[in-house]
Amino acid sequence: MAHFTKATSMHDWLNQRLGIDTLNRVLATEYWIPKNINFLWAMGMILAITFGMLLISGIFLLMYYQPNVNLAFDSVNYTIMQEVGYGWLWRHVHGVAASVVFLIIYIHMFTGIYYGSYKKGREMIWISGMLLFVAFSAEAFSGYMLPWGQMSYWAGMVITNLFSMGGLHMDGLVEWIRGDYVPAQAYLNRFFMLHVLLIPLAIIGLIGLHFGALRIPHVNNQDGEEVDFDVEAKKYLAGDKANSKVIRFMNDFLAKDMMVVGIFLILFFYLVFYHYDFAMDPVNFDPANGLKTPTHIYPEWYFLWSYEILRPFSTNVGLIAFAFAQVIFFALPFLDRSPNAVPASRRGLFKIWFWAMLIDMIILTAMGKVPPIEPFGTIGFYAALTFFGLWIALPFITMFEKKV
Ligand code: HEM
Repeated sequence: MAHFTKATSMHDWLNQRLGIDTLNRVLATEYWIPKNINFLWAMGMILAITFGMLLISGIFLLMYYQPNVNLAFDSVNYTIMQEVGYGWLWRHVHGVAASVVFLIIYIHMFTGIYYGSYKKGREMIWISGMLLFVAFSAEAFSGYMLPWGQMSYWAGMVITNLFSMGGLHMDGLVEWIRGDYVPAQAYLNRFFMLHVLLIPLAIIGLIGLHFGALRIPHVNNQDGEEVDFDVEAKKYLAGDKANSKVIRFMNDFLAKDMMVVGIFLILFFYLVFYHYDFAMDPVNFDPANGLKTPTHIYPEWYFLWSYEILRPFSTNVGLIAFAFAQVIFFALPFLDRSPNAVPASRRGLFKIWFWAMLIDMIILTAMGKVPPIEPFGTIGFYAALTFFGLWIALPFITMFEKKV
């Protein structure tokens, strides 16, 4: 039993019961961050803040949204957009944040790949990050169903059709997922539940895991330098801040982070007020109609690269290709066989691999947007093959990398 004395203040009372001073030290004032990092290390905080904005705007939208196939479209496009005071603002914040969050996720992922931040005991940070990526993808897809417009309906139709598993004859699986023969009321209800409850809960848990996984190996730095955090922290605490290689998470690092967050928020609200339409598909302003297939069905921009990997192949091969694309990034820490955890610029062939992967995914994204006519079909096909080729090559090119 812990030793309790008469508390002299509210702080003291809480401290005796919750150990808030220890928590504050471990998570904030003596959580050491390397000095040698750049603005790309603010992306994680921007993601956390954008998720917060999605949560708050989502709660306001939830007050008027109707998860009913006859009412959903009007509850969004008429009630929220026109009748509810500032309803349009919450919707634009939610829509723009849902799109922008993926841009930041991709920047955050590629920063991790460039600096090798998934290596040297940081594998769990990477894996929890990938779980967040999958969870955000599911969250975005389920949210896209809710306005019950033409794209909601038809994108839902195409994606759930994937579960017919081509030639595997998984009869009944698609209907089981939809709760009906076509996307209808049961379908809307379950995606509503997933979007507002189950997936957000999973995301909150995963963010906790991601932060926890960061605490022991500490944050990486832009030279892949092995920092002895104990020694550097002692220097800092002894007053030799100038020669210490670390700073405190709070307030040193946070203050710098907030500067980048501030710039991000200016750009973010510029989009919300002046260019919100980039995050909204015009086709989705027509109500869902199961009898009228849109001429060209495509997902939101952040899914285009994996959609393009699916598209050039027959159903079965396409499905395997798509499943491969969704999970292969999980394996990065294990497929990269090199002992070097330094920036890609100092890593021989891996430098080429990094830029080739980035450019290939941008090409796949562009080709996913255009209709599958020539030459786009052929370009998309070769870009998909390049994607697989790069992953197959990764263990071989990194295995023989010289130690730097
Ligand atoms: C979407 C929600 C996410 C949030 C809120 C988040 C948050 C953070 C934060 C705050 C950091 C520490 C500061 C920084 O390096 O930016 C971090 C680091 C990291 N994150 Fe994420 N992250 C998310 C998603 C991801 C994803 C999708 C990946 C990749 C698959 C990922 C991989 C990493 C890695 C490797 C680090 C370590 C960076 C280093 O040690 O230098 N994260 N994350």
